[in-house]
Amino acid sequence: MFEPFGLERFFARHEFCARYLLCTSDCESMAIDELLALGGQPSEALNALQRTWLGYTESKGSPVLRGKIARLYPDLDPDSILVHSGAEEAILNLYLATVRPGDTVIVNWPCYQSLIEVPKSLGARAVKWNVRERQSRWYFDPDELGRLICKAENSSKPQKVKMVVLNMPHNPTGALMTPPEFDRVVDICRAHGTLLLVDEVYRMLELGNSRRLPPACQLYENAISLSVLSKAWGLAGLRIGWLATHRKDILDQVAAIKDYNSICASAPSETLACVALDHSDEIIARNKSICESNVVHFNHFFERYQELFAWIPTEAGSIAFPALRAAEGIISWHDAADLAARLLRDTGVLILPGALYGREFGLHFRIGLGRRAVPEGLSVFGRWLETRVNN
Ligand SMILES: Cc1ncc(COP(=O)(O)O)c(C=O)c1O
Repeated sequence: MFEPFGLERFFARHEFCARYLLCTSDCESMAIDELLALGGQPSEALNALQRTWLGYTESKGSPVLRGKIARLYPDLDPDSILVHSGAEEAILNLYLATVRPGDTVIVNWPCYQSLIEVPKSLGARAVKWNVRERQSRWYFDPDELGRLICKAENSSKPQKVKMVVLNMPHNPTGALMTPPEFDRVVDICRAHGTLLLVDEVYRMLELGNSRRLPPACQLYENAISLSVLSKAWGLAGLRIGWLATHRKDILDQVAAIKDYNSICASAPSETLACVALDHSDEIIARNKSICESNVVHFNHFFERYQELFAWIPTEAGSIAFPALRAAEGIISWHDAADLAARLLRDTGVLILPGALYGREFGLHFRIGLGRRAVPEGLSVFGRWLETRVNN
C-alpha cells in the first residue's frame, strides 16, 4: 500500500483555509471567461465549449487535443501523446505499466512523493540520486547517476536499472540542469539501455537568463516526457496532463492501465485545454513574469533576513527551497515545521515544511512564486518576523 502523500495531505488541510498561500507550485489560474477571452473575440471558444458533447471522450485524449500537445514537441505526432487526468494519474499509470517487483528504479531526491512512492509500493527498489549544493547552485551530478547505475548492475545481485526518473526543472529546489549536464544524463541512460522518465511539469518556466532544456523525448528514443497544464499554464483545475514519447509500445501498455483508472479525460476540460494550448505563449509569458517578479520580492526578503535563512534562487519553475540557518539566540523555532505552524497560526501565511519531502529536509521549507498575492503574503511574513527576531 502507498504511504500517505504528506504534501498533498498538508494541502488538503490548509490550501482552502489559509489566508496567504506562499508555497503553491501552480501558477496563477484564471476563470473560464478569461481563458475564453484570450483569442480576442470569445464567442467562438464559448460556442465550442457550449457545443462540447458530454459523453465519454477518446481514451487516449481527443485527436485534436493530442495534435495541439504534439506541436509542443518538435518531432512527435498525436499518437505519441497519451492524455491523462493531471500529471499525477500519468505517474501512477506509467509505473503500473512498466515497473515490476524487484526492479530497480533510480529517482532524483528530494522529489514529488509519488515519483518514488509508487515504484516502492509496487515492490521495486528505489535508489535515491541526491541533489547537491555547489557554488550557490542546486545540482544533480550526472556522474553520480552513472555510478549509481553501475553499482546496481555490479552488485551481489546484479540488475539492470529499469528506469531513471528525473524531475527537471526540479521540485522543490527550482534547480535546472545545463544542456550539457542533461545530455550527459541521456548518454548514460542510452549506454545502459535504461528508460528515462523526465517529469517536465515545470518546463517553460525558465526564469531570467536560464536556458530551456529540450524535452527528454526529443533527445532519447527511450525517454518519456511528462507534462501538465497545471503549472506553467496555471490551469490545474482542468486536470489535463500527458505522457509524450517515441515508445508507442509503452503508451499502449499505459493506455491499458488507464482503462482501470480514469478511462478518459473530462470533455469540457479537453475543449478548454485546446483553447489554452492555442494561447500557450501568452499564458506562459504572463505566469513567467509573475514568477520573475516574485523572485525579486523573495530576493529582497532573504537579503533582509540573511542571518535567518539560506536561499538559492529558483532557476526554473515556480518553487524554491530555502532553509533556516542555525541562528541561536535570534529565533525560537526548532525547525521549519515549527516555524510554519507558528506563522500559520499567527498570520494565516502558509509555507510548506521541508520534512514533508523527507526527514533530512527539516530545516528547509518550500515557497511558491506563481501567485499574484505573493508580495502581500511576504510582507505579512516579514512584519511577523520583525516582532519575533531578537535584534
Ligand atoms: C514534479 C511534479 N510532478 C507531478 C505533479 C502533479 O501534477 P498535477 O497535480 O497537475 O497532476 C506535481 C504537482 O505538484 C509536481 O510538482
